[in-house]
Amino acid sequence: MVALDGPSGTGKTTVARRLAERLGAGYLDSGAMYRVVTLAVLRAGADPDDAARVTEIAGETVFTIGTSPDSPLVTLGTEDVTAAIRGNDINQTVSAVSAIPDVRRLLIDRQRTIITEVLAETGGVVVEGRDIGTVVAPDAPLKIYLTASAEIRAARRSAQDSAAGRESTPADALASVNRRDHLDSSRATSPLRPAEDAVHVDTSELSIDQVIVALAELAGRRG
Ligand code: C5P
Repeated sequence: MVALDGPSGTGKTTVARRLAERLGAGYLDSGAMYRVVTLAVLRAGADPDDAARVTEIAGETVFTIGTSPDSPLVTLGTEDVTAAIRGNDINQTVSAVSAIPDVRRLLIDRQRTIITEVLAETGGVVVEGRDIGTVVAPDAPLKIYLTASAEIRAARRSAQDSAAGRESTPADALASVNRRDHLDSSRATSPLRPAEDAVHVDTSELSIDQVIVALAELAGRRG
């Protein structure tokens, strides 16, 4: 198992999926779970800061998270929400939802169950998130903490948004990335931080291919 943590815009999702493909492993995007619950909260018209109501929605929401690295489909009920969970409305609200301890407990339980299932099926899994190496799977044999400068992360996020047809300038993306990182790092329950035994990889000056080669080598030794 590989635990891949770090802030947004470090190339984490692309790296995690390509690494999983290369290793013949499964893939779990833990952030997609917080996003799908956030979508359910917004659709219910609930206040994202109302911890009791949000926890209730998180407990009732029926969703699936695909674990195939080439097409990880996310559904809410029977609806394909793979694209909808990447919208700006979700980016704005997801940190409030993910800061609620009971929501985290529910989703972390589910993450651990999925990890066990995928490991049983494929023998390997790459899990991406913010607290995988610190909280979800502290025994993971390989923990990676990806970083990149804020400017590079904002430029990547803006390019991703434009490619997906969402309006975004690098300045908007920078503000959004900084805001979310601040909220994710400063929350009381499982804040974004590297595990003590994580290998730090700064992706600012590296291509995705270079990152994959470096991580596959580490996984070969330790994963
Ligand atoms: O990785 P992604 O940007 O999709 O994550 C969306 C949000 O979900 C993060 O900004 C964070 O608030 C939350 N998250 C989390 N713990 C994780 C993964 C994501 O709190 N393991």
